[in-house]
Amino acid sequence: MRFSEVSIDYSSLKESLERFARSAYLVIEGGRRLEGTLKPQGSKNGALPLIAGATTLDKPVKIRRVNPIRDIRVMLDIFSYLGGSYEFNLEEESVYLDPRGIDRFSLPWDLTKQIHASFDFLGALLFRFGEAEVPLPGGCVLGTRGVDIHLDGLKALGYQVWLENGVVKALGKRPKGGTFRLKKRSVGATKNLLMASLRAQEPVILDNVSVEPEVIQLVNFLKGSGAEIEHLAPYTIKVYPYPGELLSSPDEFINIPDRIEIGTYVLAVLATRGSIEVRDLIPEHMESFHSLLKNIGVEVLLREDGALYFPGKELNPIEVATEPYPGFPTDLQPPLVAFLTTVPGRSIVRETIFNNRFAYVPELLRLGADIQLLDNHTAVITGGRELKGAPMMAPDIRAGAALVVAALASKGQSKVENYLVLDRGYWNLEGKLRELGGEVALRLPLDQ
Ligand code: UD1
Repeated sequence: MRFSEVSIDYSSLKESLERFARSAYLVIEGGRRLEGTLKPQGSKNGALPLIAGATTLDKPVKIRRVNPIRDIRVMLDIFSYLGGSYEFNLEEESVYLDPRGIDRFSLPWDLTKQIHASFDFLGALLFRFGEAEVPLPGGCVLGTRGVDIHLDGLKALGYQVWLENGVVKALGKRPKGGTFRLKKRSVGATKNLLMASLRAQEPVILDNVSVEPEVIQLVNFLKGSGAEIEHLAPYTIKVYPYPGELLSSPDEFINIPDRIEIGTYVLAVLATRGSIEVRDLIPEHMESFHSLLKNIGVEVLLREDGALYFPGKELNPIEVATEPYPGFPTDLQPPLVAFLTTVPGRSIVRETIFNNRFAYVPELLRLGADIQLLDNHTAVITGGRELKGAPMMAPDIRAGAALVVAALASKGQSKVENYLVLDRGYWNLEGKLRELGGEVALRLPLDQ
């Protein structure tokens, strides 16, 4: 059964997906050249804060270009737990969010433990109720993933914040506002502080904020709903107090294409030395990725409605470090490392955002890859060794993507277990890879 063949209503589709994803795995016959066109999904990290952001609205909003990957489904479950309702339109790739029934400000552990973005509800609920209770979030295990910047920021704005039995509680009916400098450009803290600032009495200046496209999209969403937010400097924003009770919903909002999904497919295809055309990308969001590819020797041709990627005459190893936007994104680090195992020579990849993002490396070693971890932050890849298929276990979303990229470039059969994590971030992964010519099957333990 392919997900795309399931033509039932969303609630039963969700049920089948849940059952399916828990025990499902991918079987990949590698060594085939992939080729073709990709129509990207809606940005996962773009849509998640919009769902939390919908909590700040007075009436329904339709968000276009959203696909029901697992993280989105969990976020929507939280939205309806709070009293909101939603309807997915699979064909239209849109979700209709109705916040009018929201009457709770506490999130349940069962849902919040599944995704890190559940924490985005903290700022949104503070705006709506002046009060919120959100368990410390779960999600991909990439290191400690503290939330101290979120909490320090809320305190600086005048909220009372404390931790009780693993639940962050915050209160502030009319916090004073003020200035706060984030000690790190945290995506999550920027999103929360943006929404919580709207409730303050005085304007709030947030300094050293994240400017990831997904964060800027949230700013635009809030502005489109009546919030007054100004960009004072590249990493400084000013949020003015919102005079009303709730923001005034735009009828519709279009989510950005998923730059991380795009990067993953491009790297997968290039790992097999094929070429790929991507429709609908926003070139500005891809700049660091494109310049990295060009340094490696990949041809990147921008077109009016997308981009074409193909390997140049010679591919060269590189040195790169992940950075906050506009730098090279940490979420593409794992698939990049997998691709670099196919590029002859010694590449060095430094992870500067998370302190434990190489959990997939031992899995790639099963294929015969030569990767040395100098420490938790540095991988040295000696590429060009022949990779041979093997069973592997996906530790998290992007790590899972790395295993898929490497499996496609390996000779023979590989198995990628724990499909659940891939379903969290990639809509119809196996279907899209098959469309590109990959021999990829989604299996359950019983259908050998
Ligand atoms: C978001 C993305 C994730 C991406 C990351 C960096 C979503 C749902 N997730 O995650 O895919 O990899 O941005 O682009 O959009 N930190 C602290 N204290 C804090 C907050 C963060 O120490 O209060 C640290 C984290 O542990 C991490 C780093 O800062 O090491 C980056 O975190 P942050 O930018 O907040 O990323 P997330 O919002 O978790």
